[in-house]
Amino acid sequence: MVISEKNVSNIRKQLAGELKPEIYRHSLRTAETARELAKIHQSAPQKAYLAGLLHDYCRGWPRERLLKLLQDSRWQPDRWERQPGRLLHAPAAAEMAEKKFNLTDMSLLRAIRYHTISNPQSDRLGMIVYLADKIEPDREYFEAEEIKKLAGEDLNQALLASADSTIRYLLDCKVIIHPNIIILRNNLLGG
Ligand SMILES: [Fe+2]
Ligand SMILES: [Fe+2]
Repeated sequence: MVISEKNVSNIRKQLAGELKPEIYRHSLRTAETARELAKIHQSAPQKAYLAGLLHDYCRGWPRERLLKLLQDSRWQPDRWERQPGRLLHAPAAAEMAEKKFNLTDMSLLRAIRYHTISNPQSDRLGMIVYLADKIEPDREYFEAEEIKKLAGEDLNQALLASADSTIRYLLDCKVIIHPNIIILRNNLLGG
């Protein structure tokens, strides 16, 4: 499917009818934040908007449904993502973006697929969508304002601050930490 104004608007209408209202509103805010970041950082605003719109399409689906959807998918979850938790909805949303909405742009699909665990090999669109999800206007946590400010200036610095914040949070929760976020942080520190 071509990413045109009309197609994006149709997808938005469809999501408004399908998603839980709070997830739909979060998706809209993430899409708008991603579009703004894409404008600032010379990426593709409409692609960023669409990735933001679809990133949580499978949020709240039962685990069995997610696993079934992903069975023959090219977006295979890894061993950490398969553990009980909320990580499976990201590869599942990439699968739906591809199969249900007929999107073929790999950069867009990868941005959706890695919006939870991050990806040290992310392109700029991937970085933007990852950050937009963490800093959309309704996100409130200690470091949010600082990360928002950095995101308008320097994507790498914003990602580093976001990785620090995420890792700190996961440590406090005493849950597993996906290696991608550690590798991403090491890379950003030049390690
Ligand atoms: Fe998500
Ligand atoms: Fe999200």
